[in-house]
Amino acid sequence: MQEMILILDFGSQVTQLIGRRLRELNVYCEIHPYNKIPTLGENVKGVILSGSPFSVRDEKAPIADLSNIKGKLPLLGICYGAQFISQHFGGEVNGSIAREYGRAMLTVVDEQSPLFKGASKTSQVWMSHGDTIAKLPERARVIASTDDVENAAYKIDGEETYAVQFHPEVFHTKEGPQMLANFALGICGCKGDWTPDSFIDNTVASLKQKLGNDKVILGLSGGVDSTVAAVLLNKAIGQNLTCIFVDNGLLRKNEFEEVLDSYKEMGLNVIGVHSGHLFLEKLKSVTDPEAKRKAIGSTFIDVFDAEAQKIEGARWLAQGTIYPDVIESVSVNGPSCKIKSHHNVGGLPEKMNLKIVEPLRSLFKDEVRRVGRALGIKRELIGRHPFPGPSLGIRILGEVTEEKLRILRDADDIFIKSLRNWPCELPSASYPNEMADNLYDSIWQAGTILLPVKSVGVMGDERSYEYTIALRAVISTDGMTADWVHLPYEFMAKVSNDIINKVKGVNRVCYDISSKPPATIEWE
Ligand code: XMP
Repeated sequence: MQEMILILDFGSQVTQLIGRRLRELNVYCEIHPYNKIPTLGENVKGVILSGSPFSVRDEKAPIADLSNIKGKLPLLGICYGAQFISQHFGGEVNGSIAREYGRAMLTVVDEQSPLFKGASKTSQVWMSHGDTIAKLPERARVIASTDDVENAAYKIDGEETYAVQFHPEVFHTKEGPQMLANFALGICGCKGDWTPDSFIDNTVASLKQKLGNDKVILGLSGGVDSTVAAVLLNKAIGQNLTCIFVDNGLLRKNEFEEVLDSYKEMGLNVIGVHSGHLFLEKLKSVTDPEAKRKAIGSTFIDVFDAEAQKIEGARWLAQGTIYPDVIESVSVNGPSCKIKSHHNVGGLPEKMNLKIVEPLRSLFKDEVRRVGRALGIKRELIGRHPFPGPSLGIRILGEVTEEKLRILRDADDIFIKSLRNWPCELPSASYPNEMADNLYDSIWQAGTILLPVKSVGVMGDERSYEYTIALRAVISTDGMTADWVHLPYEFMAKVSNDIINKVKGVNRVCYDISSKPPATIEWE
């Protein structure tokens, strides 16, 4: 069994970052809610308690049952986690005396502590707590302090329990990665053998065992997740996997053909279904964004289902679900409201009566890309920007028509190709810690939007009255928040010129400089 570290989530906004940092150390970890502790098998090498928006002194403060953990397994409490251990094991937490937010300088008091091995005596840490640990829990001693907070880190003697008031997982804690490595690889003794190659070997073996000789169907979208899932399954069960790639008539210029060719080159058993006409028919006169999404989503389900019915004896539906989609979140402020209906093919599994297999369920997005790279998938495919299921259908504001699709496709093609051809010296958006190949690679998502307004211009000696194209380029980590990219002026000048000169029907180009929130990435 893969060795792992269990992260118990008390609802902090940065809990996922703890997971990310451990995975970067090639240590497998899982995030579970504080009140749903899974069975602790021998493969669990240690436990981390996350931060929380609560104070331990709140009436409704989350309480975890650590009876099978504390003193039995290495344990690291972070922020709320540190206060929780203190509060429940003989210490005392109180408010307001030494609130600390933001950067602070940590001084290591116990230089022999394995938690600080290889770390500087003083280094910057990130604090975010209103409460402070006034009295340490039983048998505990201070191992690091800041100017304002004496008990910034402690260790309980006689057991491998450590606690830190600061957040080692956030970027601003300069030596946080070293401290987390000390905990996971040193104190917990993890081997750090969770690599893309080991993931591939283990996953292929378990898929073989799970699926045997069964037939599996998978919907390919051209996106990273479904592509990597397909290649993994293909490695495990070969021709028993049938992939279905639907041309909804709303894809980017030449996208369907190019991506289909790549899939075939990779040896995937893939059926390409041309059904653009059907989608366009269903979109006729539909102008409301949500109605468009629903029309596209339900047509997709019908097309996919009809195609899947032709595959005799299929028992499984494979999906490219990834870890952020399955982490059960600790609800702190009640369920979040739905802003757009993103899960447009949500009804598919129920309708098809197939069992679900999700080979990427345990991976973060950048890990999916690394696995894709280890599987030998072309960089153009695994470095692709996210693209919404309803495709260009939600980038043409208002009714979708053939003519508008032609305009948007041509403009989009110019923008995307120009991004790919523009050199830059920025970090890659797809692989943290690596440099981007070009401007495209440094951006999380980019595209063009066709606005439903015409405006006046001049072309030669004539007055024109044509459409406006908006360019959108954002950086983000998960699409939940996003910032607009500061594209170079020379780049924007060139793209604007190219679009206006080459795309018939456009006489104006704008750049969207809104962040999310309050704007969204897509305009519909
Ligand atoms: P928004 O517009 O909500 O988009 O800021 C966040 C991310 O989600 C993508 N998106 C969708 N993906 N179906 C999808 O599969 C949808 O209906 C949909 N709407 C938005 C969007 O491209 C961005 O990456």
